[in-house]
Amino acid sequence: MTQIRPLIVGNWKMNLSLGESIVLAESIKEGLADLSGFDAVLCPPFPFLGPVAEALSRHRLQHLLLGAQNIFWKEEGAYTGEVAAPMLRGLADFVIIGHSERRRVFHESEAEIIAKVKLAIKHGLRPIVCVGELKKAAGGQPPSQLVKELETILAALPTDDQAKLIIAYEPVWAISTNPGAKAADGHYANVVCFHLRQELPAEVPVLYGGSVSAENAPEFLSQPEINGVLVGGASLTARSFLAICRAAV
Ligand code: PGA
Repeated sequence: MTQIRPLIVGNWKMNLSLGESIVLAESIKEGLADLSGFDAVLCPPFPFLGPVAEALSRHRLQHLLLGAQNIFWKEEGAYTGEVAAPMLRGLADFVIIGHSERRRVFHESEAEIIAKVKLAIKHGLRPIVCVGELKKAAGGQPPSQLVKELETILAALPTDDQAKLIIAYEPVWAISTNPGAKAADGHYANVVCFHLRQELPAEVPVLYGGSVSAENAPEFLSQPEINGVLVGGASLTARSFLAICRAAV
């Protein structure tokens, strides 16, 4: 079996001030200096990518990287307010694509998500593609719509590019900001990740996301089919994010 390096991704969403972002990034960097064996990716809002990159550039840690939370599905042009993949060169190594908040609040379509994935790859960004069902399926069986969704994305990419993906399984019902949200249980998430993995090249990391916390991270990170976690709320303090990272060691 291909050995995949664990990946811990912090999605800060539209939170924190510039000053808070820099303090958080620096505290995480300090805490990660003595830890190894995984990669951590911080995803600040667009305007803070440059300042956070700058703050992390002094005595850079190889395993602390930056990601963007989104890109636009065109490369350039008259798209007021949007950010294109090539603009992130030198600022980010990863980009989250198709997060459920983008799909639901901004009505992103499958075609747009595929266009974004292609542009990310073209411009050297590793796409972290989110997929997840809206409602918890009865009987613990992974919803077949998820596999279909993944197949549609894969069918649009050449084999070489498929290997550059990172997939995040994020059941929408488990994302902490949704009413009544509760993390999936580790076994269920593992089964879904197993099914998704059957579609993917062996080297593609499959992450779990949805109410990941310092307390439940060991449960997810010890599952054989889960290579890491995508963390929202618990990535906003160094204390909880570092505790999650320690669970990956
Ligand atoms: P959460 O967010 O960890 O706060 O549930 C995860 C996400 O939306 O990516």
